[in-house]
Amino acid sequence: MKLPSDRLPTLTAERIELRWLVESDVPALFEIFSDAEVARYWSSPAYQELSQAQALFDDIRKHFRAGDLYQWGVALRDTGQVVGTCTLASIDIENRRAEVGFALGRNYWKQGYMVEALPVLVNFAFEELDLHRLEGDVDPRNLASIRALERLGFSREGLLRERWIVNGEICDTVFYGLLRREWRASRA
Ligand SMILES: CC(C)(COP(=O)(O)OP(=O)(O)OC[C@H]1O[C@@H](n2cnc3c(N)ncnc32)[C@H](O)[C@@H]1OP(=O)(O)O)[C@@H](O)C(=O)NCCC(=O)NCCS
Repeated sequence: MKLPSDRLPTLTAERIELRWLVESDVPALFEIFSDAEVARYWSSPAYQELSQAQALFDDIRKHFRAGDLYQWGVALRDTGQVVGTCTLASIDIENRRAEVGFALGRNYWKQGYMVEALPVLVNFAFEELDLHRLEGDVDPRNLASIRALERLGFSREGLLRERWIVNGEICDTVFYGLLRREWRASRA
């Protein structure tokens, strides 16, 4: 699929869809990323100002144009409300790989929304973007995220010690990987 030149395609699941973020979604992004619980194991501290969410939005557009990061809004199909985001980051076309990122507003945890969203993202990456490998970079204490990746068939590949320093806290990372042939085998 040739990506539309001006936006990300909408990827649909049962209760949610992954859609192109628009300016009016900035308050929803702030709602999600200003929550300390959501940002607990994220690579940047919780937002304090709405302008930080605006800067994220502008960044998403800049990276889309550069083709090195695609970030969708996770929106409820019945209301259109953005309740999270799903990302393909560090897209490396030459090596056909990318890193997955994902977050939900705390009010939407434990309802299976990421169980629905992530297979759609992974399938798009492998079947539409022709990627060969996807990676996950997760704090070993982030059990919900680790469960989400392992449910998809990601394999734990190693521990990278003291890789992130967020808010002055030095954090390890566990690295996960998934290959296209593994994904196709799991879907067959
Ligand atoms: C990572 C994150 C998205 C996971 O959210 P989550 O709600 O645990 O995951 P899902 O949306 O996939 O929901 C799965 C859970 O919902 C439950 N559930 C409830 N209704 C469900 C349904 N209809 N279908 C499937 N699961 C359902 C499942 O039992 C499962 O719970 P379990 O993990 O205790 O087994 C969330 O914790 C988050 O946003 N964290 C902050 C950001 C972050 O750290 N992101 C990862 C960075 S690497």
